[in-house]
Amino acid sequence: MLNKFKICHFFYFLILIEYCWTENGKESCFCELNSDVDHCTCSVNNVDSLNNLKLYPRLQNILQRDYFKFFKVNLNKDCPFWKDNSQCSSKDCHVNQCEETQLPDGIKDEDSKYKHSKESQGEKCDDNKGTLGKLDRTISIEDKEAFDSWKKHDDAQDNFCELDDDSSESSSYVDLQLNPERYTGYNGPSAHKIWNSIYEENCFKPEANDYIAYIQSADKVMCLEKRVFYRLVSGLHSSISTHLTAIWQFKDPFTNKVTWGPNVKEFKRRFDPVTTDGEGPQRLKNLYFTYLVELRAIAKAAPYLNKESYYTGNQTEDRHVKNLVKEFLSEISSFPAHFDETQLFKDEFNNPIKLKEEFKSHFRNISKIMDCVGCDKCRLWGKLQTRGLGTALKILFTNEDQQCKSPLNTETNCNNLQLKRTEIVSLFNAFGRLSRSIHEINQFRSKLN
Ligand SMILES: Cc1cc2nc3c(=O)[nH]c(=O)nc-3n(C[C@H](O)[C@H](O)[C@H](O)COP(=O)(O)OP(=O)(O)OC[C@H]3O[C@@H](n4cnc5c(N)ncnc54)[C@H](O)[C@@H]3O)c2cc1C
Ligand SMILES: *[C@@H]1O[C@H](CO)[C@@H](O)[C@H](O)[C@H]1NC(C)=O
Ligand SMILES: *[C@@H]1O[C@H](CO)[C@@H](O)[C@H](O)[C@H]1NC(C)=O
Repeated sequence: MLNKFKICHFFYFLILIEYCWTENGKESCFCELNSDVDHCTCSVNNVDSLNNLKLYPRLQNILQRDYFKFFKVNLNKDCPFWKDNSQCSSKDCHVNQCEETQLPDGIKDEDSKYKHSKESQGEKCDDNKGTLGKLDRTISIEDKEAFDSWKKHDDAQDNFCELDDDSSESSSYVDLQLNPERYTGYNGPSAHKIWNSIYEENCFKPEANDYIAYIQSADKVMCLEKRVFYRLVSGLHSSISTHLTAIWQFKDPFTNKVTWGPNVKEFKRRFDPVTTDGEGPQRLKNLYFTYLVELRAIAKAAPYLNKESYYTGNQTEDRHVKNLVKEFLSEISSFPAHFDETQLFKDEFNNPIKLKEEFKSHFRNISKIMDCVGCDKCRLWGKLQTRGLGTALKILFTNEDQQCKSPLNTETNCNNLQLKRTEIVSLFNAFGRLSRSIHEINQFRSKLN
């Protein structure tokens, strides 16, 4: 009890010092960005230069390639929690879906190939052509039964997201490059209901101005994990706000002519301490935190990602993309200070296994809430970004010991991570969004100074 109380005090202290008091001057939105990113031994400045000079340009290049730009998604699922009656009908909310003929052969055939290799049980799976060989390369046909049961286990245990049923009739491919995330006009009660549900029901955020009650109630301690969870979601929220203010729609009231560009005033409204009860700067800092978590996940999965074939059916293209990814990954691994995920889920006070399960079920719930987003384009990017973050968490917290016990494990390598194409695509694109946000924040910063 006493110990717990001390820990509470410690976190209370952390919450206090994280609060940004400097409200004067033009730097106000950015005042939190002069320090280190929490739970990470690096400064915002380090992250800015890593991102803006090295990662951002490479990522832009990678995300244009066929392998990464086609995302299969089901935008027609019903909201499982409430009746969604406010569909956005504006054309800015609309998503253009791809025709079958626009897709590269390798991607188009993914599902049918998978079915095919399932039917032809006895056949040896060609490593380069078969679907299992293509995406889950370490699995041979002999191991398939074991794989299926392992996969079932994996689906049940380690996914932080509800993956759409890929074979569903209502799923279709979307070219992400043709559907940029930007201002859509989606706001008001429908959008707020989504954000509210995410924060109030799924996060472990303390009651507003109730920190004292919080620290006195032993079983409500906001432990590191819960604060991490809140930060991740808040960082994602800041990223979305940054994109929509960076590509804002301006309409000439006389000619109705539409132009797109940054809205500095709107950015300031969303992140200035004066208009956000002092929370804006910390929200921007949360974005850096989310960025570092995904960065760490990509770094951790680098050996796996380096072996991926990025198969689209065009050998020249696939080899090119593989090289681009390789260069990108080597830039990342040269960055020394990453988020330290080993600090999480190990505190014996808060039953770590239960906590991890909670963490997962809350995150999965957030991915389901995305089916309630009443604007197709927002739903598309919302799904993609939560799936990307979910993939990052899966990479970071997949129980390696359990995987070692899997019959598929080769003696040499215990880190038997398996990612589907959709997970890799989501992870890279989600990270691409955060990377773009950091780039945009620096643009806003120079405009506000
Ligand atoms: C999943 C999803 C995707 C969306 N995608 C788009 C899009 O692509 N384009 C588009 O134009 N609109 C999009 N929207 C809508 C957009 O996010 C805002 O809801 C809308 O612009 C209205 O903004 P707002 O100023 O009312 O505050 P909101 O962003 O709606 O925030 C609601 C409340 O949450 C709190 N809050 C705000 N930011 C944070 C943060 N970073 N951390 C913690 N708390 C915070 C504040 O108290 C705020 O009043 C999306 C919404 C959702 C739910
Ligand atoms: C999931 O979210 C919904 C909608 O916000 C909520 O009603 C439900 O209680 C949540 N469930 C869990 C397990 O968090
Ligand atoms: C294969 O990809 C390369 C670029 O990587 C492109 O120049 C070429 O046209 C593509 N070939 C086909 C058949 O699409």
